[in-house]
Amino acid sequence: MNLERYTHLFELNNLSNDSNWKPLLEEKLQAAFLKPSHGHFPKWQSAVNQLSIANSTHCKFDTPIIEIGTRSDLTDQQHETILESLHALHPWRKGPFNFFGAHIDTEWRCDKKWQRIQNYLPSLKDKTILDVGCGNGYYMLRMLGDGAKNVIGVDPTLVFLAQYYGLVQCLDQNINAHLLPIAFEELPAQINQFDYVFSMGVLYHRRDPLEHLKRLLTHTLVGGSVLIETLVIDVEQSTQLIPQDRYAGMRNVWSVPSPSLVKSWLHESGYDNIQLHDIQTTQIEEQRATQWMQNYSLVNFLAPDDHNKTIEGHPAPTRAIFSARRPK
Ligand SMILES: C[S@@+](CC[C@H](N)C(=O)[O-])C[C@H]1O[C@@H](n2cnc3c(N)ncnc32)[C@H](O)[C@@H]1O
Repeated sequence: MNLERYTHLFELNNLSNDSNWKPLLEEKLQAAFLKPSHGHFPKWQSAVNQLSIANSTHCKFDTPIIEIGTRSDLTDQQHETILESLHALHPWRKGPFNFFGAHIDTEWRCDKKWQRIQNYLPSLKDKTILDVGCGNGYYMLRMLGDGAKNVIGVDPTLVFLAQYYGLVQCLDQNINAHLLPIAFEELPAQINQFDYVFSMGVLYHRRDPLEHLKRLLTHTLVGGSVLIETLVIDVEQSTQLIPQDRYAGMRNVWSVPSPSLVKSWLHESGYDNIQLHDIQTTQIEEQRATQWMQNYSLVNFLAPDDHNKTIEGHPAPTRAIFSARRPK
């Protein structure tokens, strides 16, 4: 993994009118790549290097299973090496992918969430998009598949960066999706605004959800939109669940708001045209352990005798999708 892949990003003059963001961003990237904070980083880096033996131009980003390369591009020996290296990047949470014939059956069937989003999302053709908390970039690639012009994702978790790199490094350097291994809060304020800003699976992890929504607004073009996907509690009132300890096994869930509260937060943060598009209880077919993610998954965090509740006795995970506009 190196900084070369970002050369194209730095050259995109339509991303910023202010050149100050380039040195700032370079500094952040260098810190992530040269002084990685995670002890497994060298192991991930060597897995990514091994994956570079795969070579193909075949890719399909507009299908539920993202395809990169085909099995016939590899010898049996190379296929074995690829499988081993992909497994070294465990846990694979977001996907699915088919990488040179290896079906990476990830913990999450993210294609299902993307389908729910596509049901209402206007065309992404030629749009610039910021994906906050982008994980390993599954959705970034689906956005490209739906015609987006440029996608920038931010996520500080380095194993997801390694997965993303491992998957896309064989493709053209100029692929218009860049994963920045930094926290959203570190994203230079000068970086240009986007037609769409996505924040999926992030809001309930923020100690200050209003601050998060206001920050998203600053990165959204006037007349552009945010898409918020979040855990909610499915009640009419404007209220929130503040877990005293864990929520469905997760330590860092600060607040699970009701849909009306999310709408009020969006309003208070300065958005208009606020809409709730979808609300669904997460099914264990959508989030489950597989050979690519062998840790506990949703079923282990639901009450064994009542899947409407978490093991802590809270309402079972239910997720909602909202959109809102930065007013003209
Ligand atoms: C629940 S996952 C959601 C991933 C993906 N957006 C999805 O909807 O499936 C939350 C993601 O946010 C990332 N994250 C945590 N803190 C963050 C921060 N300060 N800025 C950006 N991303 C962050 C995590 O690494 C993780 O990938």
